[in-house]
Amino acid sequence: MQRIFITDVAPRDGLQNQPVGVSTASKLRLIELLAKAGVASIEATSFVSPKAVPQMADATELVTALAGRDDIRVSVLAPNLRGLQRAISAGAREVAIVLAATETMNRKNINLSLEEAVSVSSNTIHAAKAAGLRTRAYVAVAFECPFEGLVPVARLTQLAGRMHDEGADEVVIADTIGAASPTQVRNGLAALRDVIPVGQLGVHFHNTRGMGVANAWVALESGVRRFDSSAGGIGGCPFAPGASGNLATEDLVLMAEQCGFDTGISLDGLVEAIAFTEKVLGRSAGGEALSWYRSRMSARARSDSPA
Ligand code: COA
Ligand code: ZN
Repeated sequence: MQRIFITDVAPRDGLQNQPVGVSTASKLRLIELLAKAGVASIEATSFVSPKAVPQMADATELVTALAGRDDIRVSVLAPNLRGLQRAISAGAREVAIVLAATETMNRKNINLSLEEAVSVSSNTIHAAKAAGLRTRAYVAVAFECPFEGLVPVARLTQLAGRMHDEGADEVVIADTIGAASPTQVRNGLAALRDVIPVGQLGVHFHNTRGMGVANAWVALESGVRRFDSSAGGIGGCPFAPGASGNLATEDLVLMAEQCGFDTGISLDGLVEAIAFTEKVLGRSAGGEALSWYRSRMSARARSDSPA
């Protein structure tokens, strides 16, 4: 059976823009439940300005509490050298930089021009590698930007290829606002595979237009085996208008396993993590398949219980 590798980004992408404050203890509990469900790679937080993203202000405390865990890969977002220094001091071993594919999105997100963002991202990758960290490079708004519209495939391959050349271990193609169609994803990945080995490509989809699973399937068929998703489908970038939830991990796991891929993740375990998230956020969450899966769990429990 072929394996796919899922990074659950719920603690970072999922929580960064929530209207209710989430305590460090709750974030750690969510990470614990995801690990228990078999999620081997988790994007835990981001080292960004607490003024820009107040929900991630406890990054140091969170990563310090996770340091030394060998059962999961803990990744953190660090868009610049200041973020990287903070991440290293806290004991992080894997960082993700974020480079948007357009001028305006870089300005809105990290207050840099596209050219400056390429340079800052490259320097951050070099410094992270020199410190022995694993690196992921996000190319955000890879297909469409909320400010500038469609992103030409040539620009995407140029920026993603550049991050690969600068030494990123993995380049993650992010449909930040969930606007891409399966055809765009197929064409983008076909071009990207010419510049980056497919084993080093990852994809990060949002489900704004309900195409997350379809896009993930196209990526699978294109040979991609690294996926970001978020348990319960929570997520979205505060600086990208119209961004809604991520592709839900439960939808991805269900689709992939039903198609014969091994994810190493237990759906029952995910359901427990999602129930916890719902309690913390005070609202319901979940991907397209969650209510069906929950009814199946209840039916299973009924048939297992003695009459
Ligand atoms: N972590 C914490 N503080 C940081 C920082 C980081 N990674 N990078 C810069 N700062 C601090 C500086 O030290 C400075 O602090 P001071 O005011 O106390 O002197 C202040 O922020 C301004 O620094 P500057 O370099 O001018 O940053 P900026 O105002 O241009 O903001 C970012 C740049 C990247 C810090 C900010 O835009 C940001 O945090 N964006 C969030 C991006 C994000 O998380 N997006 C969602 C996920 S993709
Ligand atoms: Zn995202």
